[in-house]
Amino acid sequence: MDKIIICGGKKLEGEVFISGSKNAALPVLVSSLLTTGWNTFHNIPDLVDIKTIKRLLESLGAEIEGGETLRINADKLRNCEASYDLVKTMRASILVLGPLVARMGMARVSLPGGCAIGARPVNVHTKALEALGARIKLEDGYIEAKASRLKGTTIYLDLPTVTGTENIMMAACLAKGTTLLKNTAKEPEIMNLADVLCGMGAKISGAGTDTIRIDGVDSLHAVEATVIPDRIEAGTFMIAAGITGGDIKITGCDLCYLDAIVTKLRNTGMDISIVDGGIRAVGEEKVKSVDIKTLPYPGFPTDLQAQMMAFMTVGNGLSVVTETIFENRFMHVSELMRMGADISVAGNRAVVKGVPRLRGAPVMATDLRASASLILAGLAAEGVTELSRVYHIDRGYQKIEEKLSSLGADIKRV
Ligand code: EPZ
Repeated sequence: MDKIIICGGKKLEGEVFISGSKNAALPVLVSSLLTTGWNTFHNIPDLVDIKTIKRLLESLGAEIEGGETLRINADKLRNCEASYDLVKTMRASILVLGPLVARMGMARVSLPGGCAIGARPVNVHTKALEALGARIKLEDGYIEAKASRLKGTTIYLDLPTVTGTENIMMAACLAKGTTLLKNTAKEPEIMNLADVLCGMGAKISGAGTDTIRIDGVDSLHAVEATVIPDRIEAGTFMIAAGITGGDIKITGCDLCYLDAIVTKLRNTGMDISIVDGGIRAVGEEKVKSVDIKTLPYPGFPTDLQAQMMAFMTVGNGLSVVTETIFENRFMHVSELMRMGADISVAGNRAVVKGVPRLRGAPVMATDLRASASLILAGLAAEGVTELSRVYHIDRGYQKIEEKLSSLGADIKRV
């Protein structure tokens, strides 16, 4: 089992390139199920979750070539089942449900099951698919969905689920008639997916707002498209500059989609500005404590909550962190406390009392973003931090230790 060893205290300096967004690439790759011909997608990140979705799509009969530029052809789908052994490792596999029903008339997708950060049900996905006319059965831990042809209708999502919005938007592209999807998530990854689907011949308007209109068409053709940069990775590196008092330049992305995180980081005293070809993030010696409350986009992203909490452990006062999206996304707290952080949790609220310095310690990753939080803490801590179960981090960050060591961090994988 790999470990990451960090010797803390180095100020990060230099330039880092942000990879393509995991949470944009996953639905974009799945959207190829709706098409015939060879799709070409650029800026695909090299991540474990991308390897997983490629395996799943190949198990359905898609042909896939390449890496960062990926070519994918779904002419000959031979299977409509997403098996438990694939889905259990990545719940975003649920994204194949809508496209398979729309393209093949049926799908059998394992219920994703919970994960470390919460139960993560998919009831909103299935209810919306039923509204489009699919007959849904839950049996032996699988969702079975059948529909000779989905029919457009008006659907109100009980909550602005990100992959739920993506799932139904994709399914509705091939439905008969118009679908009005209300109370949709507004994440940039949804806008990226809508652009790709329109490139395939879909008729979609309103992505990025709380109402999306999809006028169904009979078929979709292949497209060449590019995945947006990963705003969560960009935010993680900005916080890395903040927590080490460093000065870095982030390239490959711009500030759009980052308003909530940039505003918060500026409130801590950081200087974040646009420079030629990228973003400059400069940390201050004194870190002002700020409160965080996670919200659906454009609010503060839940995927940066753990990383921001690590930063606040060395703030100059009290920071209240409120997690409103997932019911169990504070597993990094006990690990941060092993490093000397002073945090008390009550329900979905954590009160972080800043301490002058963290101390390195052996800690364990529990989920993807918690791993990033512990790496950030290790960068700032005095002494050595040993992070185990690093397979979590590889799901969502491309070569993070290489990128950090190129910024001057003393970090290695063993
Ligand atoms: C997406 O997950 C992201 N994953 C998550 O990123 C991200 O944290 C999350 O959106 C919130 O922004 C991908 O895009 C692949 P939700 P998703 O459906 O779609 C509840 C990361 O670290 N809910 O918006 O699964 C659910 O339990 C990952 O990159 C239902 O109750 O999130 C959660 O509490 C982690 N019923 C809340 O809604 C449903 O049918 C938000 O979930 C669906 C969701």
